[in-house]
Amino acid sequence: MDKTGNNRLFQNAAQVLTLAGEAAPRRGLVMNDLGILKDASVLVRNGKIEWIGEDLAKVPGGIGDAEIVDCRSKVLMPGLVDSHTHLVWAGHRRDELELRLAGADYEAIFAAGGGILSSVRSTRGASDDALYEQSLRRIQRMRRCGTTTFEIKSGYGLDLETEQKQLRVARRLGKEGFRVKTTCLAAHAVPEESKSSQAARAAFIRDICERILPTINDEGLADFCDVFCDRGAFTISEAREVLTAASSLGLELRVHANEFGHTGGAVLAAEMGARSADHLLHLDAHEIELLRETGVVATMLPGTSLVLGKPFADGRALVDAGLAVAVASDCNPGSCAFENLSMVLAIACYGCKLSPAEAICAVTHNAAASLGISDEVGRIAQGLSADMLVLDTDDYRDLVYHAGSPLIEQVFVAGDPIS
Ligand code: NIG
Ligand code: FE
Repeated sequence: MDKTGNNRLFQNAAQVLTLAGEAAPRRGLVMNDLGILKDASVLVRNGKIEWIGEDLAKVPGGIGDAEIVDCRSKVLMPGLVDSHTHLVWAGHRRDELELRLAGADYEAIFAAGGGILSSVRSTRGASDDALYEQSLRRIQRMRRCGTTTFEIKSGYGLDLETEQKQLRVARRLGKEGFRVKTTCLAAHAVPEESKSSQAARAAFIRDICERILPTINDEGLADFCDVFCDRGAFTISEAREVLTAASSLGLELRVHANEFGHTGGAVLAAEMGARSADHLLHLDAHEIELLRETGVVATMLPGTSLVLGKPFADGRALVDAGLAVAVASDCNPGSCAFENLSMVLAIACYGCKLSPAEAICAVTHNAAASLGISDEVGRIAQGLSADMLVLDTDDYRDLVYHAGSPLIEQVFVAGDPIS
């Protein structure tokens, strides 16, 4: 996304959360250091952050024609980075939600051909434009809630044509003002037509490795490859096959891991040097140590735990063990259709026991680092894109204290306010 913004001076914020420091993800308790400047201003030129400080007299060359954004009694912080979404889908699963609220089980619905497979049917049946329009409305709402960077996965196609359709829609969003990274998740579920035998299932995995991933890669449609390695989805050896093929094409890796049990996904993420292992509801000390040693970012999706009535990932243990932790929405049609990442960051505090500062680091800098773009977004630092939020409060902890209130007053992308 190339976009130049106007010149703006964000003047005199009560708190500027800079997250100043290196581009590597923050590990462990260092996540608490948000690099807060008090009564400070930020000068933006051509969409980039040029100067940050308390004394405007010290701006080299002065503020020039910069338009003033009055930030008195407000917090200025980086735009949120949602590093795990499935936001391009067609249709809805509101009926399934009601069934689950009445006691039906997510995994049982999936095993019976509903769940993910029901979204596959609607996404396969949608035209390019219908899929784009539905996804556009969703991503616009997400941005109004403060998210300025989006990772978007495919995975409701499970065939080449529909995986391409989803990823092309994601790329189109990326060209139309949204900052987007894409992930091919063709190994999200075994499609209906490949369920009849072990041979058909093996043929589907081969098709992902030998045709779907190479074609998508040739078209430049994906930045990452992800696999749902868990009970009821793909085994460790199937997931390893897909990730190995992706890696040999030069794609970076992410893994849906350990959502339903100690199913090997986290160990595989460490073995394969994935950028991120996501969900992580069930992790033992050995698995935590492997993720720490290999520097895999541990991404928690606490909205999904809440919606499915599952345990929360133990964020406290992960941070205390010295891992780099990120938090994301998982926005998808089934297990969690939450769009508001600023609310999910609060749930990460109440459910996963992160401190408010850790949760903010988890949805900004660490999420950006897990996407390999922490030199572009996620901090308020010189040279980064001016993707920033103005909060209607003078204390960032209100994002957790007053969770769910409309605290995000203005959203700026590359220095421009979103409409
Ligand atoms: O991350 N766990 C697998 N995939 C999604 C759920 C997708 C769906 O239910 O449609 C997730 O929760
Ligand atoms: Fe997911």
